[in-house]
Amino acid sequence: MVQDPIAIVILAAGKGTRMESDLPKVLHPLGQVPMLAHAVATAEALDPARIVVVTGYGADTVAAALEDISPVAVTAEQAEQLGTAHAVLTAAPALDGFAGKVVVLYGDTPFIRPETVERMLATGADVTVLGFEADDPGRYGRLILQGELLDRIVEARDATDEERAVTLCNSGVIAADGALLLDLLATVDNRNAAEEYYLTDIVAIARQRGLTARAVICPEAETLGVNSASDLARAETVFQDLKRTEMIEAGVRMPAPETVHLAQDTFIGRDAVVEPYVVFAPGVTVESGARIRSFSHLEGCHVSAGATVGPYARLRPGAELAEYVHIGNFVEVKNAEIAPGAKVNHLSYIGDASVGEATNIGAGTITCNYDGVFKHRTEIGARAFIGSNTMLVAPVKVGDEALTASGSVITEDVPAGGLAVARGRQVNKPGLARKLMARLRALKAGKA
Ligand code: UD1
Ligand code: CA
Repeated sequence: MVQDPIAIVILAAGKGTRMESDLPKVLHPLGQVPMLAHAVATAEALDPARIVVVTGYGADTVAAALEDISPVAVTAEQAEQLGTAHAVLTAAPALDGFAGKVVVLYGDTPFIRPETVERMLATGADVTVLGFEADDPGRYGRLILQGELLDRIVEARDATDEERAVTLCNSGVIAADGALLLDLLATVDNRNAAEEYYLTDIVAIARQRGLTARAVICPEAETLGVNSASDLARAETVFQDLKRTEMIEAGVRMPAPETVHLAQDTFIGRDAVVEPYVVFAPGVTVESGARIRSFSHLEGCHVSAGATVGPYARLRPGAELAEYVHIGNFVEVKNAEIAPGAKVNHLSYIGDASVGEATNIGAGTITCNYDGVFKHRTEIGARAFIGSNTMLVAPVKVGDEALTASGSVITEDVPAGGLAVARGRQVNKPGLARKLMARLRALKAGKA
C-alpha cells in the first residue's frame, strides 16, 4: 500500500522539574538509552520523510544526544515553553516544503507502538487523537465525543464537573494533514486556566470549520508518560517486561526472564539461551543457538551461532565471537575477534587482539595491550596453544600452530609452529625447604 508521506514532530522541550535532576528529562536512560530514543524508534519504524524534535530545556545537550540517536532527525528550539500548540508551531520551519500527514509524539512517552500510529493514520478524519480509558483520569485532558466523532478536548483545569467525570483521556498524540495542522495551530490562543497555547484546542477549531475529528483508543499502558523519577523507575520495569516478552515470543529461551536486563537495541536470535542474571548493555547481537550463561555482562559485541559465553564473562565493545567460540568464567574480551572454535575458558583478558580458528588460550592469559599511552594489538594465529598464565606484551604476533610455555612473558613474535619459552629456569635445592621451616619455627618459639 502506498501511503502519504508522513513527518513526525516529537515534543521534548520541557524541563521535567519532578525528575529532580539537572539532566534534561528526555535524556534520562530507559533501557540504557536516552528516553528520547524510544519515541525516535517509534517514529523511524513509520518510515517518515522527516523527524523534528522540539527542544527547549538543555537544547544543546539534547541536540548533541540526538545525533547519536538518529542520523536523520533534526531539532527545532522552542526558546520559551508556551504550550504544546506553540511547541508544534516551532517545528513549522523544519516542515517547510513537506506535504503529507504530521504526527505529534512526545519525548517522555516512550511506549507508543508504530502500529497504533498506523491505525491513527487510517481513520480518514481530518484530525485524529490517540485516547485511552484512564484508571485515574486526574489531570489528563478529556476527550468529549459526539456520537462516533470527537467534538473537543478539555483540559482538566478548564473542565466542568460533568466533563471531568469523563474517563476517556487524551494521550497527547495527534495526527493531521501538515498544512491543515499548521493552519489550525495559527488560530489557537492562550485564553485558558494555564495561559498556554494548547495543541488540544485544534479539535474544537476543526469542528467549527466543519472538519471531522476522531479518537483512536489504545491501552493505557501504551500512553505511560514519564514525569517524575518514580515514573521513570516504573517505565523501566514496563520496558524490561515488554522487551523480554517480545524476545520470548520470538523464540529466545530465558528460564528466569525477570532476572535478565536488556537494552533497547538488544537483539537475540531464535533458540539462543539466556541463563538467569545476565545484563545486556547497548549494542549487543546474539545469534541463534548461542548460550549466554549466568552473571555475564555484554556490551557492544556480537556473539555468533553456537558460541557460549560465561558464566561470569564480560564482553566489552568490539568483542566479535565467531561460531562455536567458548568464552568461559572470569574472561574479559574487548575489541577482539575470536575465530571459529577458539576457546578462552578461564580467567583471561583478551583486548585489542585477534585469535585464530580453533586456538586454545590457557587460563590466566593476559594481552598486555596498553603501555600507559598507546594501545597495541596482539595477533594469534590458528590452532595455536597459549600456555596458562602467558603475558602477551603487545604489539606481538604468535603464528599458526605455535605454542607458548606456561608463565611466559612473550615480548617477541613467535613463528608459526614454534615453541616459545620465556620464563626463569627452575632450580631445585634439596632439603632447603625443611631447613628454612625449622629456622622460622625456632625464631617464633624464641619470641613467645
Ligand atoms: C498534555 C495534554 C493533555 C494530555 C496530556 C497527556 C495539552 C494542552 N494537554 O498535558 O490533554 O492528557 O498531555 O500526558 O496538550 N511541551 C513542550 N513545549 C511546551 C509545552 C510542552 O515541548 O511549550 C512538551 C513537554 O515537554 C511534554 C509534553 O509537551 O513532554 C506535554 O506537555 P505537558 O505540559 O506535560 O502537558 P500536560 O499538562 O501533561
Ligand atoms: Ca505531561
